[in-house]
Amino acid sequence: MVGRYCRLCLIVFFAATLTACNQQSQPPSPAVQSVLPEQAAQRYNELCAACHGKQGRGGGVGPDLSASRYKYGKERSRIITSISEGRPGGMPGYNSHLPAEEIAGLADYLISLH
Ligand code: HEC
Repeated sequence: MVGRYCRLCLIVFFAATLTACNQQSQPPSPAVQSVLPEQAAQRYNELCAACHGKQGRGGGVGPDLSASRYKYGKERSRIITSISEGRPGGMPGYNSHLPAEEIAGLADYLISLH
């Protein structure tokens, strides 16, 4: 009797999980954290490479972004601020040009560089 009850619980549990998953995948989620890495890399090449060099290695007017330490901090949130608001030494702000998930994607891309 107890065994059957537990099996029923499991079935209900799985059904609920499946329903939850289905609901999540229905509309394109507005809570996207960041764009795909390939998209971010492409954006980087379009917008940032002129100053920061290919794969962030510097060479233009911008600093080397493959460095392990950043002047303004290498925490994801600090990088997002650098990109969104810009920095006084010649870094333009992108918050009026790029949606938040693209900026987050660029931050993740920079963190992935070595
Ligand atoms: C016009 C040239 C230019 C462009 C384009 C540019 N940057 Fe910069 N960036 C700079 C300069 C110069 C600095 C250094 C600013 C300072 O030291 O105050 C900088 C600083 C930064 C920093 C902070 C680095 C640190 O050491 O804290 C990040 C992160 C950054 N840029 C990312 C980007 C990204 C991502 C893009 C493309 C969306 C981009 N930059 C486009 C010139 C540029």
